[in-house]
Amino acid sequence: MRLGAMLRAAHVPTLLSSAPSAACRTAAAGRGRCLALRVHAAKAKGFGTAASRVVDVPTVTKLEWQSPLQIAQYPDPCLRAINARIGVFDESLLRLAKEMIAIMYEDDGVGLAAPQVGVNVRLMVFNPDGREKPGAESILVNPEIVESVSLAGKELGQEGCLSFPKIYGDVERNREIIVKAQNEKGEPVRLHLTDPWIARIFQHEYDHLQGVLFFERMKPAMLETVRPQLVELEEAFVQQRPTVKVQRLAPPKISKGFGAVKK
Ligand code: CO
Repeated sequence: MRLGAMLRAAHVPTLLSSAPSAACRTAAAGRGRCLALRVHAAKAKGFGTAASRVVDVPTVTKLEWQSPLQIAQYPDPCLRAINARIGVFDESLLRLAKEMIAIMYEDDGVGLAAPQVGVNVRLMVFNPDGREKPGAESILVNPEIVESVSLAGKELGQEGCLSFPKIYGDVERNREIIVKAQNEKGEPVRLHLTDPWIARIFQHEYDHLQGVLFFERMKPAMLETVRPQLVELEEAFVQQRPTVKVQRLAPPKISKGFGAVKK
């Protein structure tokens, strides 16, 4: 497999050449509320009329998973579930992170978020280099985007995702961000990610924690280029697990040309 996170390690050299900065577009949450989740109107019954709302995230004090870990593929509902805040910093957390790192390398990924292995908690691991080297991995627990450094702007770059085998597309991301999180011991960490490649990895993984998938960040034309592959994954999943309810891709926005009214 390959990207638990986003980009394949093979793409690293290209992306490393970029420079830095920009604005947090966690569509998922209001600015500064990065630990809350956006819930679509359909689910947000009886709480305002806005298309989405922010909800509080529960905290877990026990981590449970099945070894060996397996990467969930789109459209597995675990990629859309709410990810709980982690309130336990013991040996189990480190073990889970290490298992995630192992499967990330196995699949040639540079990052992986816990929901991608079916564990719906706010944990991500990454190694922007993609090469296995002890100490090169970052483990971020309960990460939040503090600020996107707008001076550095945004840039388009190719991403893939371990949950979307063989699908790649350009996604716009902030080149530079400031994040805070906890390490595996529960100590607070604050990182200024000035390398656009690392900032990109973080934003991709952070999106996973918000239930947002990379194709949802693609511009419409780019999305159309990967639509057939996304639909193929959906069909395969539905066939394998017909009783599981999944969220499928919305139909394309078709421009009707002359005379069409834009809404
Ligand atoms: Co991903």
